[in-house]
Amino acid sequence: MKAIIKRKANQLHQQVVEWRRHIHANPELSFEEYETSQYIASILTALGIDYTDGWAKTGIVAVIKGKKPKKKVVALRADIDALPIQEKNRVPYKSKNKGVMHACGHDVHTANMLGAAAILHGLRDKFEGTVKIIFQPGEEKLPGGASLMIKEGVLDNPKPDLIMALHVHPPLEVGKVGFRPGVYMASADELYVSIKGKGGHAAVPQNCIDPILISSHLITALQQVVSRRANPNIPSVLSFGKINSIGGATNIIPNEVKLEGTFRTFDEAWRKQAHKIMKSTAETLAASMGGSCEFTIAKGYPFLLNNESLTEQMHQEAKTYLGDEQAVSLPIRMTAEDFAFYSHQIPACFFRLGTGNKKRRITSHVHTDTFNIDEEALLHSIGLTSWLTIQALKS
Ligand code: NI
Repeated sequence: MKAIIKRKANQLHQQVVEWRRHIHANPELSFEEYETSQYIASILTALGIDYTDGWAKTGIVAVIKGKKPKKKVVALRADIDALPIQEKNRVPYKSKNKGVMHACGHDVHTANMLGAAAILHGLRDKFEGTVKIIFQPGEEKLPGGASLMIKEGVLDNPKPDLIMALHVHPPLEVGKVGFRPGVYMASADELYVSIKGKGGHAAVPQNCIDPILISSHLITALQQVVSRRANPNIPSVLSFGKINSIGGATNIIPNEVKLEGTFRTFDEAWRKQAHKIMKSTAETLAASMGGSCEFTIAKGYPFLLNNESLTEQMHQEAKTYLGDEQAVSLPIRMTAEDFAFYSHQIPACFFRLGTGNKKRRITSHVHTDTFNIDEEALLHSIGLTSWLTIQALKS
């Protein structure tokens, strides 16, 4: 089977590169992936693969039935949206859409999944069970396309026994993949804080309530949530990335200060408790200094849990397919990913695809305007995705 898949992957590689380049050149923002969706549908139609569309508007679900289709169902997910970034790469397939770029590799994920679909469809009389392929919109934007597709029933009829997805990873050299069983990526919540005081002449502070001073205390005080309230065994991050006064000058105390930040961690109970502590600390502290505080939390994605036994099994299978040295172990990350929603519903495995190539100077990180991949990665990924799916169906 390994040899058959490798041969098919070799035959398909150039075609998959062309699909990837087309998607890369025509990126669309989260929940606006109309042309991308049509493009995916046209390829599935040409391949003769059944699908339903209109999921969360632009999502597509393809189904490939093997022998005994009810025996086991394996779901695969590819996200299809791009980012609001102006591409700086000088390549023939550079983004044609101004200010929009596939800078997180979702073009690669989509093309990879089409390639794997072609291989699996061709092998459907050689495996038992069903493969359910989810082309999902809006990974980059709250509330996340995953949460919407789950609400619309993507994990029902047929219900997958497990789900897998891969993500490009520039720090990992092309040819390699990385796995991490257990908790892998953080939950991420957005914090919007408004601190209100009373503005006036900076030379007469006794007549004012200074929201700048309250904010300074607040930013420091909130760090105790991470350093003193969090269990040191549960990684947590609290960062403020934006601080703005509404008005104010060297000699003017403003009325209001706004802060924006992010809170990330790996435990749902602690996440809930931390929200309460942050809110009450902020409100009490502002009140103690004569001001007031509105602390708003936009709940983002939950933490991503890689099912231990499934992920360990897939790591071993990746070694079998790519070679022992090529499948490495990865540390946890504080970034977030909406695949986490699936991972709280059914056993999940989210792994990383090496796409970097230091010799060819392909090293830019995701979410940068010079991000790109070594397209050799697609040769490995379409074969590996097919191999892992067939192994997961077997066990
Ligand atoms: Ni991404």
